[in-house]
Amino acid sequence: MDKQTVRDIDVNGKRVLTRVDFNVPLDENSGNITDDSRIKAAVPTIDYLLDHDARIILCSHMGRPKGNVVPGLSLRVVAERLSSILRQSVDFVADCIGPEVEVYANELKNSSILLLENLRFHPEEEKNAPEFAQALARLGEIYVDDAFGTAHRAHASIVGVTHYLPSVAGLLLEKEINSLGRVLLSPARPFGLLLGGAKVSDKVALIENILSKVNYIVIGGGMAATFLKAKGLEVGRSLLDHDIDTASYLMDKAEKNGVEIFLPQDVVVADVGGNDNWETVAVSEIPSNKRIVDIGAFTITHFTRILERCKTVFWNGPIGIYEVPQFADGTRVLARIISSINATTIIGGGSTAEIVTGMNLNGRMTFVSTGGGAALKFLSGETLPGMEALLDKMN
Ligand code: 3PG
Repeated sequence: MDKQTVRDIDVNGKRVLTRVDFNVPLDENSGNITDDSRIKAAVPTIDYLLDHDARIILCSHMGRPKGNVVPGLSLRVVAERLSSILRQSVDFVADCIGPEVEVYANELKNSSILLLENLRFHPEEEKNAPEFAQALARLGEIYVDDAFGTAHRAHASIVGVTHYLPSVAGLLLEKEINSLGRVLLSPARPFGLLLGGAKVSDKVALIENILSKVNYIVIGGGMAATFLKAKGLEVGRSLLDHDIDTASYLMDKAEKNGVEIFLPQDVVVADVGGNDNWETVAVSEIPSNKRIVDIGAFTITHFTRILERCKTVFWNGPIGIYEVPQFADGTRVLARIISSINATTIIGGGSTAEIVTGMNLNGRMTFVSTGGGAALKFLSGETLPGMEALLDKMN
């Protein structure tokens, strides 16, 4: 990585404004955190700062409150979880800018931690408003960006603030860029891309950028329906991305590059709006009143064989409607296969990371990214505003 990191700057005794991505999933009913991987992923940087007697001011967003104060999206619950992970107290302040917050920040002792309230309670955060960025910058003397998951957003706490403080990367941001970067630079081959999720449009740039590196593209999830339709098959009431031309274009391009694309040969189908009346059928026999909800057993075996040939696998997107237990087989079996093959296995963030963590397989993957959209953007070859804004390494 060609950016300076927290190791390249003297943080001793300094107030370090640290942007993290604590946008963790919460249980709809209880409001409890259901996956704290993103909090744990920030610990190496926090530990580094603690060891160097820094005064740590953490800031993050949670959810999409659209500039309003939404009590259900308060970061207070994260302060409590972080404190129990670190076994040290974490102070919390009910705003992220303003005189009261400045007093808190100034009075912080060395090696102590303050977490600010959700940045997105202020509309100026997403607008990258200079006066809001300046108000944030007043809290610290140094800025550390460790929020890989939000590196694709040009928001005030990611980009604006870097105009006012010396700005460097945290250890998680560095690890993400190095781990994902290796996939692009020197993947061991055969290299297989396993893609799921609903939309082809989300993955076009990724497929195009990675076409010269991969050998196989294996497609499941909702997006498989669009590819099957592009091949002239009827897909019943499956959700289509209206991107059939794009799917045809990608298949052509893959063929020209010598990349094999594998689609399901059998699928689980169910009634629209109901999860009980389901069956497995060949893709040539999808009933006109049903929708695809998972890949079938034959396809699971076929996809398994392809993944087992690979020396590098990148997986992004669920393979079926995995939230519904009877439609989760494709996702769960392939997750287990990926965790057991002798290959470099990289998991895109977002729901794919949550699935892997929920199945306790994260420790058996080479790398599980904390960024969903950010990982896709990075692997699509797009520049990440959050990276661009940081100080370059000195030669
Ligand atoms: C994520 O979960 O992908 C990041 O936290 C970014 O969230 P956003 O998509 O709401 O900007």
